[in-house]
Amino acid sequence: MSGLGVIGGSGLDQFEGMHITHREVMATPYGEPSGPLLFGRYDGQDMVFLPRHGPGHAFPPHLINYRANLWALKEAGVTEVIAMAAVGGITARMAPEVMCVPDQIIDYTWGREHTIFERDQVEHIDFSLPYCVTLRHRVLLAARAAGIEVVDGGTYGATQGPRLETIAEIARLERDGCDIVGMTGMPEAGIAREMGLSYACCAMIVNWAAGKEDGPITMEEIGRNLKTSIAQAKQVLRHLSAPDPSETS
Ligand code: HPA
Repeated sequence: MSGLGVIGGSGLDQFEGMHITHREVMATPYGEPSGPLLFGRYDGQDMVFLPRHGPGHAFPPHLINYRANLWALKEAGVTEVIAMAAVGGITARMAPEVMCVPDQIIDYTWGREHTIFERDQVEHIDFSLPYCVTLRHRVLLAARAAGIEVVDGGTYGATQGPRLETIAEIARLERDGCDIVGMTGMPEAGIAREMGLSYACCAMIVNWAAGKEDGPITMEEIGRNLKTSIAQAKQVLRHLSAPDPSETS
């Protein structure tokens, strides 16, 4: 049984090269996850894989059942989650095809089921550092070992989508201190923390955010960069070291 769970983002709804031993459709108290969990190995590494948007990209960011996805992974024995996510770059270092392992997040999403705590069971979890420090470190080491250009740290601005942002919205995010922008970072990270899962994000920058380059953002550009970024994300998994049993998040 693997403790490693990988949530695949846009462009990574199938995991080519993964040797799948079995699939499982999990029922959860929150309803259905995005799809069946895939159990297997990738380059010798045991893992459980779940495409965030579902097979065939059925669920846009605001309709993803984040609680069910994370609950299913936890129920399957996952203790640490690497979240792959395609994002836009805002600040200078965050150019397309660069990878970022963010260390902070600002939540601009609304109307999503964002907590597992219901009436009569309120807990206020600490979220000062929204990503697991040790898992982030391992992801960074793996990226460097794979020779990938990776930025250590940055603030992920999580927007509602599914549309991309206006130039003014990106300017505001930048004033707020955001380095990258994506649509799925929250509530995923918060719910993972509530469930006691170690969670880190491998953000694949696939375009300059609105207004950071002349002209509109095109799906062709995103698709082109996504190919390189996905190859890099898979390299990270190949180079990921085993967890150190003495470390906690
Ligand atoms: N904005 C929000 N989400 C994204 C972007 C973007 O520019 N690119 C990829 N995901």
